[in-house]
Amino acid sequence: MDVLIVGASGGIGQALAENYADAGHQVRGTYYKTTPQGLSEQIELLPMDPTSETNVQTTLSKIHSLDLVINCVGFLSSEDGLPEKTIRKFEPHGLEESISINTLPTLLIAKYAQKLLRKSQQSVFASISAKVGSIGDNQLGGWYSYRISKAALNMALKTLSIEWSKSVPNCCVAALHPGTVSTKLSAPFVGDGKKHSLLSTSQSAACISKVVNNLRPFDTGRFWSWDGEEICW
Ligand SMILES: NC(=O)c1ccc[n+]([C@@H]2O[C@H](COP(=O)([O-])OP(=O)(O)OC[C@H]3O[C@@H](n4cnc5c(N)ncnc54)[C@H](OP(=O)(O)O)[C@@H]3O)[C@@H](O)[C@H]2O)c1
Repeated sequence: MDVLIVGASGGIGQALAENYADAGHQVRGTYYKTTPQGLSEQIELLPMDPTSETNVQTTLSKIHSLDLVINCVGFLSSEDGLPEKTIRKFEPHGLEESISINTLPTLLIAKYAQKLLRKSQQSVFASISAKVGSIGDNQLGGWYSYRISKAALNMALKTLSIEWSKSVPNCCVAALHPGTVSTKLSAPFVGDGKKHSLLSTSQSAACISKVVNNLRPFDTGRFWSWDGEEICW
């Protein structure tokens, strides 16, 4: 398979790139500010700002075939070091930044990957979302900007799945929840991991790849947890 991991510089993205390379696939990985260190040499690294349309277009124009795309780019806004627990802490800038990093890249990548995915016999286009982006599952509240940007990402993926069921019928579009994973993004919230069942990046990547490898075009337009359970939108 020809695999593209967007955000191979992050904890989960790097582990997914390694997982697919270890399984013998042709893997390309993008990075933006952080140059990944110690990634296996089979992984071709491409610099790309996933929030810039021209950058995404240029990068994808260098790729000639694709069977799997997983966007692992993400950001958890933090005023005062913590996401907003109350509306009193809400800042317009935090929401704009969250939408720009958590929602926009998936749409840009889909726009320029469509042509490549259409050529594949069977493909998957997935983004790492977050369970807190589920509207139906929201019981705790808080984290306005992050939740809103991930709910918007989920809507983008669902809408894309409907369009592509006609125009890219061999592709399965999916939203994925990676679990609570030990990365830079989660570090301020998980402490020593005792309160959460914390996954390592390689555990999460192994579970995500198992879920993804079982997806077929008729599964399109759904939201999956790392453990294979479906999450309500
Ligand atoms: N860790 C968890 O427990 C958890 C739980 C639920 C969902 N998620 C989701 O999983 C995904 C991966 O997160 P992670 O935990 O692996 O986090 P991470 O290690 O902090 O990685 C974040 C990735 O996003 C990219 N990124 C961040 N800000 C960016 C910006 N302004 N412009 C372009 N790229 C940017 C980073 O690229 P550069 O460093 O190269 O700029 C990096 O590749 C995210 O979508 C996150 O929301 C994580």
